[in-house]
Amino acid sequence: MKKGKKVAIIGAGNVGATVAYALAMNGVCHEIVLRDRNTEIAKGKALDMSQAANAARQHTIVSVAEDASGLAGSDVVVITAGSPRLPGMSRDDLLMINAEITKEVVRDVKEHAPDSIIIMVSNPLDVMTYVALKESGFPKERVIGMAGILDSARMAHFIHEKLGYGAGQIRASVMGGHGDDMVPLPKFSTVAGVPLTDVLDEEEILEIVERTKHGGAEIVGYLKTGSAYYAPAKSTAIMVEAILKDTKQIHPCAVFLDGHYGHSDVVSGVPVALGANGVEKLFEMTLNEKQKRKFAASVDSVRGMINVLKEKNFFN
Ligand code: NAI
Ligand code: 2OP
Repeated sequence: MKKGKKVAIIGAGNVGATVAYALAMNGVCHEIVLRDRNTEIAKGKALDMSQAANAARQHTIVSVAEDASGLAGSDVVVITAGSPRLPGMSRDDLLMINAEITKEVVRDVKEHAPDSIIIMVSNPLDVMTYVALKESGFPKERVIGMAGILDSARMAHFIHEKLGYGAGQIRASVMGGHGDDMVPLPKFSTVAGVPLTDVLDEEEILEIVERTKHGGAEIVGYLKTGSAYYAPAKSTAIMVEAILKDTKQIHPCAVFLDGHYGHSDVVSGVPVALGANGVEKLFEMTLNEKQKRKFAASVDSVRGMINVLKEKNFFN
């Protein structure tokens, strides 16, 4: 019998397991179920995390779904199953491999957890969110991609590094796809309400913008055999918590655009309010011409990848 909120995580690798750990440590849900094609490793991680939850005096139980029926009753399903981005590999290289994996696991979600909200994490993020939406047939409010919170957190960190003050008070804003043409928005970024453009000069801001765009690759360069997972996992856990607690907090998330910002039949990162129904509201900010052009270019590159899948009859 279901006793409380349940979160399923498909893909218990670096990001998936760290999401589970973050959720187990703050007790936001009663039950976490891990599902991975490597069941033994998932079992070891689940046991370890359940014990950590006890050490933290939390009630969360972490277990493993050996077959897809274990997803039943999930309020939120986080999908991180896939291949990580390795050195020299662009996010786009992952397209076909991860599209097939996403299709496979979303079919399980559709069958066993038809009322859940899907949070997509696998890359290329915006396209995988589109694949999950099409494959599940869920309403667009219930299929949401994680990237904007991560990219904004990276930008905030780089701003803090540059300023040397303002920790915890920086609100950085990034919209668009989770790719090299994401759109950091310095004009919408502040330090405790003080516009970024008043505390840094143009050259410094440009440096931050470029570093944000390549924030993932910078970490891959150090890790060599995998990509970032602490900030991605925390960003995902923030989304799960907003949904489970119905906070209606505003976060940048990858969602289906249906005429919003002048774009349709595509997924991109925009500010949304997250709550019990998933996307409760999508905000259309007033962009200047330059911001509109950059956002359109980012949307176009996601559309290009969706078209590659369409040309290969992936959605048939
Ligand atoms: P990882 O390799 O550590 O974990 C992936 C897990 O998926 C592995 O445990 C693997 O066994 C599992 N898996 C693969 N196919 C599966 C299937 N069909 N069913 C169940 N499990 C399956 O990779 P990591 O670092 O956790 O990254 C996961 C994904 O998230 C990658 O695509 C990565 O690029 C993406 N990512 C996205 C971010 C974002 O901002 N949206 C940030 C960081 C990573
Ligand atoms: C990141 O940005 C790889 O998308 C992943 O770290």
